Amino acid sequence: MPQRDLILLGPPGAGKGTHAEHLQNQMAYLHMSTGDILRAAVAAETELGKQAQAYMNAGELVPDELVIDLVQERMTQLGAEEHYLLDGFPRTVAQAEALTALVAELGRTAALVIYLAVSDEEVVHRLGGRRMCRKCGAIYNVDRDGLDVGDSCPECGGELYLRRDDQPEAVRNRLAVYKQDTQPLIDYYQQRGQLVTVDGEDGQAKVSERVAELAWGGQPD
Ligand code: AP5
Ligand code: MG
Repeated sequence: MPQRDLILLGPPGAGKGTHAEHLQNQMAYLHMSTGDILRAAVAAETELGKQAQAYMNAGELVPDELVIDLVQERMTQLGAEEHYLLDGFPRTVAQAEALTALVAELGRTAALVIYLAVSDEEVVHRLGGRRMCRKCGAIYNVDRDGLDVGDSCPECGGELYLRRDDQPEAVRNRLAVYKQDTQPLIDYYQQRGQLVTVDGEDGQAKVSERVAELAWGGQPD
């Protein structure tokens, strides 16, 4: 079975970054996390970062035009044999429509959309315990890994930190924004026959295994 282009869809904390990281260790993917790209732009104080920072800290979405432009720029550089793995994009209907048009223009087959279903309670719990590496972006959890702010990343030695938008108020806002702007994409992709739902609370190893199976052309249930 051929490898597929993939979109990971799901609420904040669903595991999009975690499973993207895991998948990349197994097969070649161009991983495009709009959140990671924007966080790097904020850290580097670029024009894009300056425009995005206030939205991100508050847990609001960055304006569509900015995000569509940055994905478009990367997608057009993709070789025909390369595969992409989108994480955190699209997250509005306008972004999904722009992506559908771009994929058709590039002559690629529509991607498989893996929707990682996770409850609100689990999201709040996971994000409260998430710690990230400032240097390489690796994702950890206090509960599972016993690593906390200020510890060193086991991968690269960088410093672990708590994302600013993982503060409780920003998390509440991100969940509300997700429900209003991103959840409609479940229907959008279902109607296009691109969606497969995976229970994101089914244990990390099992979810990773299922995602990898789907990436290699496994059949949706
Ligand atoms: P972004 O960085 O995309 O944040 P998000 O969508 O809110 O998702 P997260 O990164 O918080 O969660 P995740 O699903 O990657 O979970 P993770 O794997 O880390 O976006 C940030 C901001 O940027 C947005 O708010 C917005 O401002 C802006 N932005 C980005 N894209 C945009 C766009 N397209 N349009 C407009 N604005 C945009 O896992 C979470 C935790 O759970 C970790 O601790 C992990 O270890 C743990 N975990 C993962 N899986 C499991 C499991 N199965 N069991 C137990 N624990 C688990
Ligand atoms: Mg992420």
